[in-house]
Amino acid sequence: MHVEPTQIVAIDGPAGAGKSSVARKVAERLGFRFLDTGAMYRAATWWAMHRGVDLADPDAVAAITNELPLEMREENGVLRVFVDGEDVTQAIRSPEVTRQIYRIDENARVREHLVKLQREYAARGPTVAEGRDMGTVVFPHAKCKIYLGASLDERTRRRQREMAEKGLETEFEQLREEIRIRDERTMTRAVAPLRRAPDAILVDTTGMSVAEVVATIVELARAKL
Ligand code: DC
Repeated sequence: MHVEPTQIVAIDGPAGAGKSSVARKVAERLGFRFLDTGAMYRAATWWAMHRGVDLADPDAVAAITNELPLEMREENGVLRVFVDGEDVTQAIRSPEVTRQIYRIDENARVREHLVKLQREYAARGPTVAEGRDMGTVVFPHAKCKIYLGASLDERTRRRQREMAEKGLETEFEQLREEIRIRDERTMTRAVAPLRRAPDAILVDTTGMSVAEVVATIVELARAKL
């Protein structure tokens, strides 16, 4: 039996809606733990690639993910991700990993395993969890559910800025198309599609600063939990 803790802030939304930076700061403000589930799917993808697994083979992908030696910890306000002792914080954000990730996140057995790890993590204490299926699948009984949205153009601009900060130049139209395709895929996939839970509060962050979004969510969380 799994006991779902009551103090969960579940944050979902499409790529580039600002979930990671917002969720981390909300967690800090509330004194909660922070769970970046996208980082887990990224780490699993990196691991499968690193181990030379045929990503087109769902059985092989599921088998290797079951042995994912994953560790995540916050250091000076930055979430660091380790796989088999190696710091992969940067590597899991590479375009190569991002391009292949659908082969991992569309695998039902991979999801089952990672969802179990996510629930175990949250069972250790109050948690702000962000991803695509937090409010719908992983923590359906969470009392505070947020769906973060922003226009495609705004999300593309944010992604472009993020990449630029890492010294990566990107072409706006191409990046926009990549995000649009990724949205479509996550929203229409058979397992755990990105969807706003009926009881999730929609926060449209277009034109809002990170600080404003954080303040809005902290207020909602305090009222609901
Ligand atoms: O949020 P992100 O861009 O780091 O997520 C990486 C990928 O993982 C993205 O393509 C969607 C997928 N993902 C998912 O399927 N379920 C989650 N709970 C979190 C992320």
